[in-house]
Amino acid sequence: MKAVIIKSFGGAEQLMIGDWLTPEPSDHEILVRVKATALNRADTLQRKGGYAPPKGASPILGLEMAGEITAIGNKVTKWKIGDRVCGLLAGGGYAEYVTIHEDIALSIPSNLTFQEAAAIPEVFLTAFQALFLLSDLQNNEKVLIHAGASGVGTAAIQLAKAKQAEIFITASKGKHAACANLGAHHAIDYKTENFEQVISEKTAGLGVNVIIDFLAAPYFQKNINSMAMDGRMVMLALMGGWKVQEINLLNILRKRIHIKGSTLRARSLEYKIALVQAFKSEFWNEFATGKIHPVIDSVMDWKEVSDAHRYMEANKNTGKIVLNIN
Ligand SMILES: NC(=O)c1ccc[n+]([C@@H]2O[C@H](COP(=O)([O-])OP(=O)(O)OC[C@H]3O[C@@H](n4cnc5c(N)ncnc54)[C@H](OP(=O)(O)O)[C@@H]3O)[C@@H](O)[C@H]2O)c1
Repeated sequence: MKAVIIKSFGGAEQLMIGDWLTPEPSDHEILVRVKATALNRADTLQRKGGYAPPKGASPILGLEMAGEITAIGNKVTKWKIGDRVCGLLAGGGYAEYVTIHEDIALSIPSNLTFQEAAAIPEVFLTAFQALFLLSDLQNNEKVLIHAGASGVGTAAIQLAKAKQAEIFITASKGKHAACANLGAHHAIDYKTENFEQVISEKTAGLGVNVIIDFLAAPYFQKNINSMAMDGRMVMLALMGGWKVQEINLLNILRKRIHIKGSTLRARSLEYKIALVQAFKSEFWNEFATGKIHPVIDSVMDWKEVSDAHRYMEANKNTGKIVLNIN
């Protein structure tokens, strides 16, 4: 099969389409002819050599895909050849074929294209896990979602809206309207405004109940200061750095704050199956009705994969960048 190969770790120019061994499904796996995949920030890190795939995962980039089943493992009972599926991968999405466990694959609702379906798994499962399984977001609570216009951010806004949360986001100014259209109530331009101050003003000094953070070091103190009593914060990335020089811990104790870190890719198969099944029962129907939808910034041919990576690294996207795999 054809797949995107990393010639050697480095810039986006290192990506090329080359030959790779077609994977074979094991007993409980299905083989999918991939029609579309989508970019994630992690792909750019892996391309540079800074994010090795977990043990046993494909070294090919790509954490999600949508396509059609072309073969099934001996013990697969839930699927048949020709079914349209999408799903979360630990790697291997930037390729013509990929295998996935039968319980991780999701059936694509008939109203969604392969491109739309490919834009769902990684960011919606990450957002679902962070908001509900890790932060226990309750109806009508206040949530701050940093990088609100990112793939994960645009998913998180929609899921939080479904719980009638009051949503604060940070993003560059040009992306505020898109976030508001998805359901964000307060958009903060992190380049010109101090989010801690804005949140204090808008919450009468009480703070937000939940924070979904990707920036880490530069936001750590402000995040703690922006939380309400019994607040919960989930750290999903370290985009701004991982070392804090000086920190005042007082508010963690005083406000009984919970801080969690999470990565999804390296979790066990059992964990991922439970996550997918929980997400499916709570939200999958909302995609069929159109109440929740993947936010697609752009669709490119996979021959343009280098340009797609450059576009993401320039922070130009609002939502997902999808690659068509022809
Ligand atoms: N831990 C996990 O399980 C997990 C899973 C999935 C993703 N992630 C992580 O989540 C992050 C988002 O991933 P993604 O694929 O959704 O990213 P993405 O679509 O590439 O979006 C990232 C966005 O972050 C924004 N940003 C940069 N600096 C910012 C700042 N200081 N404040 C607010 N926003 C800022 C940029 O938009 P602006 O124009 O607004 O600056 C940029 O477009 C990545 O770091 C990724 O590695 C973690």
